[in-house]
Amino acid sequence: MRKRLFAGNWKMHLDHLGARALIREIRAALDGSARALAASREVIVAPPLALLYAAAQALAGSDILLGAQNMHYEDRGAYTGEVSPLMLKPFGVRYVILGHSERRKLFGESDEFINKKVEAALRHRLNPIVCVGESEQERHAGRTLEVILGQLEGALEGIESAQMAAITVAYEPVWAIGTGVNATPEQAQEVHGSIRYTLESRYGKDTAGATRILYGGSVSPGNIEALLAKPDIDGALVGGASLKADSFSKIVKARLD
Ligand code: PGA
Repeated sequence: MRKRLFAGNWKMHLDHLGARALIREIRAALDGSARALAASREVIVAPPLALLYAAAQALAGSDILLGAQNMHYEDRGAYTGEVSPLMLKPFGVRYVILGHSERRKLFGESDEFINKKVEAALRHRLNPIVCVGESEQERHAGRTLEVILGQLEGALEGIESAQMAAITVAYEPVWAIGTGVNATPEQAQEVHGSIRYTLESRYGKDTAGATRILYGGSVSPGNIEALLAKPDIDGALVGGASLKADSFSKIVKARLD
């Protein structure tokens, strides 16, 4: 059984006081369900890099895991403005979001560049959450699966079956991010199913069956239940709704039996 995973991508929001306050509120909101949550799902918050220390302090003693939104693939060097995997580790960072569409679009990240980051994350025992997603134009042109599977192949180039245990895939249609228009559960399931099928042909049934595939793009307490009802949707990467303890905790607790 795949353990569900819910990750809050805070993007470039909050400051250290806001980060502490939000974590306090999320912890309070999840407190009553701590045991059931720990048994069936993982919860991650991914603050901006500069807030990792404040977040790590606020998370002390909780089951909520810390994630980063990005990193460079080199350990150190002349890369002004970048942060290396080695610098994330001391904060207790366990997951790192790689290849988010905002990084691809606004910062020109290519599949090849993302692939190097995936390899670096694995080398440092960080768990990559590899994001893939088509634009509105690509969907309208009927190119959704071609784009998604191309990004997936590119990001996972050279990655072996045994390494897949550490990797999570996130399907985030670009047109659904921050728009309030989520992919329908059927649209998401179609893509998730194709991702799993591709992983199966590449790595075999066991590995594909164990890999978590998250959906992201306007996830809210109102749509998470229907998304999670689909067989290949294993959790969510949540942007806007992760900035409020009330909505994030509702999402995290969805379909908790
Ligand atoms: P959203 O963002 O939930 O605000 O649409 C999701 C993401 O970009 O990860």
